[in-house]
Amino acid sequence: MTIAPNKITNRKELLIARAKERVADLKRLQEAGLICTHGDFFPSVHYPPITMYSPITEEELFQSYTLPEDGLLDVYIHIPFCRQRCIFCHYPVQLGERNPEKDQYLDALEKEMDLYMRRLGIDKIKARSILVGGGTPTYLSLEQLDKFLNFFVQRVDLSTCTQFNYDVDPVTLIGEEGRERLRLMRSYGVDRLTIGSQSLNADTLKKMNRHHGVKEILESIENAKEFGYQVNIEFIFGYPGQTLDNWIEVMEHAVSLGTEEIQLYRLKIEAYGDFQGPIKRLSERQPDELPTVEETLMMKQLAIDILNEHGYHENLRRVFTKERKHYSHYADNQCCGLLDQVGFGLTAFSSLRDRFILNTQDFDEYYSMIAAGKMPINRGIVRNQEEQMRWAIILPLKNRTVWKSYFEKVTGGVSLNHVFRNKIENLKSFGLIVEDEQKIELTKLGAFFADEVVQQFHHSDYAPFSRDEYAQGLLYPYNNCEA
Ligand SMILES: C[S@@+](CC[C@H](N)C(=O)[O-])C[C@H]1O[C@@H](n2cnc3c(N)ncnc32)[C@H](O)[C@@H]1O
Ligand code: SF4
Repeated sequence: MTIAPNKITNRKELLIARAKERVADLKRLQEAGLICTHGDFFPSVHYPPITMYSPITEEELFQSYTLPEDGLLDVYIHIPFCRQRCIFCHYPVQLGERNPEKDQYLDALEKEMDLYMRRLGIDKIKARSILVGGGTPTYLSLEQLDKFLNFFVQRVDLSTCTQFNYDVDPVTLIGEEGRERLRLMRSYGVDRLTIGSQSLNADTLKKMNRHHGVKEILESIENAKEFGYQVNIEFIFGYPGQTLDNWIEVMEHAVSLGTEEIQLYRLKIEAYGDFQGPIKRLSERQPDELPTVEETLMMKQLAIDILNEHGYHENLRRVFTKERKHYSHYADNQCCGLLDQVGFGLTAFSSLRDRFILNTQDFDEYYSMIAAGKMPINRGIVRNQEEQMRWAIILPLKNRTVWKSYFEKVTGGVSLNHVFRNKIENLKSFGLIVEDEQKIELTKLGAFFADEVVQQFHHSDYAPFSRDEYAQGLLYPYNNCEA
């Protein structure tokens, strides 16, 4: 059935009018001090933020650590090679074919796994879930991919694993070689793919310096589905050259592709890791190309409305699925379950109950530490009880729900009814969170500004922006910071 053009215009007008409501919310919440005055954001992914950790030794980090009773760990592997640099990307990666270096890296990774297992006193890792990311972890020859998966499954018990996910780019999944890769990964038990589609607009993909067009994205999704993978596709909004109109088209196209999940990222221009990607220079050179903060937030609301209309609902923050069971187990276990997780590879991290361990970002240091028999760790933290309380509220609140009984368990007996009361009451008064006897959750409005809401629970040393970047309203993040 074709829809009359005036109907389309009306629907679009309606979508845009709804999205504009978020601009009014932005202004109100900036005045209240929740959101910084320039409107930039800082993604709350870990607490304290990963860039703020100090150097610390392996001995200090593992002192008195014991494995969880069930012995289960979520496992992350990082493979930092890519064909070419995407403009928006802040990750340290090696570019181009580099086959000898990839072999060197895989050898080091294998040794790192052994060093880590020796440190934990185990000879096999009982995996709860697995995520292999990068970089482009499929940007390996078929032989290298096979070599990696082979040594990986020798060290990891898959019988307890509920999900084996790979983060991939579309190009490595297409053509005969791509299909061979898909077959190979499936034979090792990989069952979910997160495909970095980024956009479905040819111009935007070009401006991102992606090495593929729309056609390759569509082919990769079809291939992945054919081999029986659960498929998640990722999009960036707020990118130079994006408009409300072309973004609506991208989202309408995305929901027609029948993937289980769709994930949204707001463009981060200023890196929050140690490495600054090319996007900063580009946005300074061509500021007019960049959507405003207001337009960017409207894009987010437009996407949410289109996704909801087509049966996709926000199941984990920023991840929209049709069925509740389709979400990243790795992310859910880490952010909501607060469960122990180990990471291997350059920049990989481990989250082990009250401690956070970060690997080096430097390739040479990575190789030389492993060659010397040392874990390639260079930063981390062992949280004290107060920081543990903040962590136990920030990650689950952002992503789903803070269960009061669970908070009490992971903080060694602290009742959520007795801590952070000023913050909680203030956030309730702005309609950003709701609370009952069992739990605290974000409202729809709170979920829209989830990063800023959970940053209310940061210690003032870890506020993402400086004091003069926020208005001094009731939600000024430097007020009432005590637990
Ligand atoms: C770890 S990256 C790797 C993805 C994979 N290499 C690819 O590009 O297809 C995971 C996702 O983070 C998002 N991302 C990366 N850099 C970003 C930035 N500067 N701002 C917003 N999102 C970003 C992208 O959507 C990307 O797919
Ligand atoms: S976005 Fe992905 S493919 Fe592009 S450079 Fe970064 S890690 Fe590589």
